[in-house]
Amino acid sequence: MTAEIYHVLRSDQFDRPFLNDLFDITNKLRQISRTKRGADYLQTLMSNKRAMLYFTQPSTRTFLSFMNACQILGIKTSEIRDPHTSSEMKGETVEDAIRTFSSYVDLIIMRSPRAGLADRIANLLDETPRRVPIINGGSGRDEHPTQALLDIYTLRRSFGKTGGDIDNKKIAMVGDVQRGRTVRSLSHLMRHFENAQIYFVSPDSLKIADDLREYLKNEGVEFHETTNFEEVIPEADAIYMTRIQDEHDTAGESKHIDYSKYHFTHDHLKILKKDAIIMHPLPRRQEIDVKVDADPRAKYWRQERNGMWTRVALIAKMFNLHKDITEPYGV
Ligand code: NCD
Repeated sequence: MTAEIYHVLRSDQFDRPFLNDLFDITNKLRQISRTKRGADYLQTLMSNKRAMLYFTQPSTRTFLSFMNACQILGIKTSEIRDPHTSSEMKGETVEDAIRTFSSYVDLIIMRSPRAGLADRIANLLDETPRRVPIINGGSGRDEHPTQALLDIYTLRRSFGKTGGDIDNKKIAMVGDVQRGRTVRSLSHLMRHFENAQIYFVSPDSLKIADDLREYLKNEGVEFHETTNFEEVIPEADAIYMTRIQDEHDTAGESKHIDYSKYHFTHDHLKILKKDAIIMHPLPRRQEIDVKVDADPRAKYWRQERNGMWTRVALIAKMFNLHKDITEPYGV
């Protein structure tokens, strides 16, 4: 058993035993859910709980996968996706709005354009008599911890059905590695793997931020920074593509960047290792040619589905249902 986690705010909260445990629970859940009896059993586990999805930044996958994850466990959900429909329009602070949700629900899952907001809200709730757990579903350019979990799960599952090793693997993260929060959160987790190496491949103007560089140096994670994508493709065991995060532009600066050098084309498949994999947190624009989708090394659609199951496992783990899943009764 690993240390319990109350709020999920940043990926560096997770240690390797936690990741291993989550991986096992995720696989077990998928197995149980294959029969109707098993799926019905899972729906009893949290049928007395309610969750709030507070997503004030655009989201398709993260929102829907959390919503469906809740449904798999029988959790009832309510949602706010547009702050214009909440009392924030009447001048209520986000702090008061979220404190209100905590009066009604047992879990708050939130996404916000503001870096650090999930942390602040968690601290605030910790001081109140009705403390409820917060899951950060993406905060500004800062963190996306649950995406990092599903990315690790996808890497391990793709490197070996029963849980391949990320140790000694070379992971290339490509594109806007400066402003992509999925890149930041996943990079933080690389410290848990022996001799795993990261290649950050980006235009000069979108190189990783200084704090991430410092973090990786302090943690002894080997990493390289380059602008040359084609040189890295044949070396990599996993290629993690990202879109340009132009919602964070201050003056339309993305328009002046030639991002086409950071596109994975159909021709690139020829120089990619036979057992390497291609990932993408999605949504994609032109970073990956749609013709690449049919190649067995393209894992991004599976990665998306893995997200739902990893989130089911995470919620179950946060509510200490580990035993009900790994040793279920009568299923
Ligand atoms: C990512 C995000 O929102 O940070 N998407 C996701 O959650 N799957 C990546 C992105 O928007 O580019």
